[in-house]
Amino acid sequence: MNMTLKDKIIIVTGASKGIGAGIANELALAGATVLLCARNSDQLNAVKENIEKEGGIAYAFPLDITSVAEITRVFKTIFDQFGKIDVLINNAGLGFNHAALDVEESDWDAMMDVNLKGLFFCAQQAGKYMIEKGYGRIINMSSQASLVAIKDHAVYCASKGGVNALTKVLALEWADKGITVNGISPTFTYTPGTAERLDSPDYLAGVLQRIPVGKVAAIADITTAIRYLIGPNSGMVTGSNLVIDGGWTIQ
Ligand SMILES: NC(=O)c1ccc[n+]([C@@H]2O[C@H](COP(=O)([O-])OP(=O)(O)OC[C@H]3O[C@@H](n4cnc5c(N)ncnc54)[C@H](O)[C@@H]3O)[C@@H](O)[C@H]2O)c1
Repeated sequence: MNMTLKDKIIIVTGASKGIGAGIANELALAGATVLLCARNSDQLNAVKENIEKEGGIAYAFPLDITSVAEITRVFKTIFDQFGKIDVLINNAGLGFNHAALDVEESDWDAMMDVNLKGLFFCAQQAGKYMIEKGYGRIINMSSQASLVAIKDHAVYCASKGGVNALTKVLALEWADKGITVNGISPTFTYTPGTAERLDSPDYLAGVLQRIPVGKVAAIADITTAIRYLIGPNSGMVTGSNLVIDGGWTIQ
C-alpha cells in the first residue's frame, strides 16, 4: 500500500456502489480512513469489508442525504468520533433521464433533492467542522452534463450546472479559512451501473463518437483527479471544475 493519505479522514457520499465505492476503495488503499455514506447498510458493509480485506480502514455511516436532519446528525457523529473531517467527496447522485416533455414534478424533485440540495447540505455540515479546524478539501461531483446540453437530460444537466455554481460560491466564502472547494466533471464512466449500457456495442459506439480520446472514463481517472485536488500542492486551486471527459465538451 502507498500510504500518502495516512491519517486523512475522508467522507465519501454515495459510497455503496459505482464511482463512490471505487473512489472509497482507492483512497483507503492510499492510507486514508474512509467514512462510507449511503442509504443501504448492507451494500455499505460489503464495500467496507472489501476495503478491510485489502488492508484499508473504512467505517459505514448509513445516510439519506435528502434529509438535512440526518446529514446534520451523521456529520456531527463523525466529527465527535474522529475529531476532524479533512475531505468530503460529495459524490451521491441520481442520473435517470426523460425527454423534457415527459418530466414529472416528482422526477424534478427527486433529482434536485439528491444532486443539489443534499450535496449543498453535506458541504455545509462538513464546511462547519472544517472551518473549526482551519483546513478542508471538498470535491463536488459534477458531470460533463453541467457544461453542455445532452438530449433527454434537462433535469440532470440543470442539477449539475447548479453544482458548478455552488462550488464557486462555497470556494469564495471559505477561501480564507483553509478550505478549497472544487468540482470534477467526468464523461461516461465505466461502473457496474453503467456497464449494462456501455457493454452494448451499439450504445458504446454512439458514446465514443463524442469522445475524441476514444474511450470512456475509468474510476481510476476520477481518483487520480481527486488525489491531485486533495494533495499537498493544490491549495491554490479552488472553485475550479476539473473536466475528465476525453474531450467531449471541447467540441
Ligand atoms: N457513471 C457515470 O458515467 C457518471 C458520469 C458523470 C458524473 N457521474 C456522477 O457521479 C456520481 C456517482 O455516479 P454513479 O454512476 O456511481 O452512480 P450509482 O447510481 O452507481 O451510485 C450512486 C450512489 O449515490 C447514492 N445515493 C443516491 N441517492 C442517495 C441518497 N438520497 N442518499 C445517500 N446516497 C444516495 C447511491 O446509493 C449510490 O451509492 C453521481 O453524482 C453522478 O451524477 C457519473
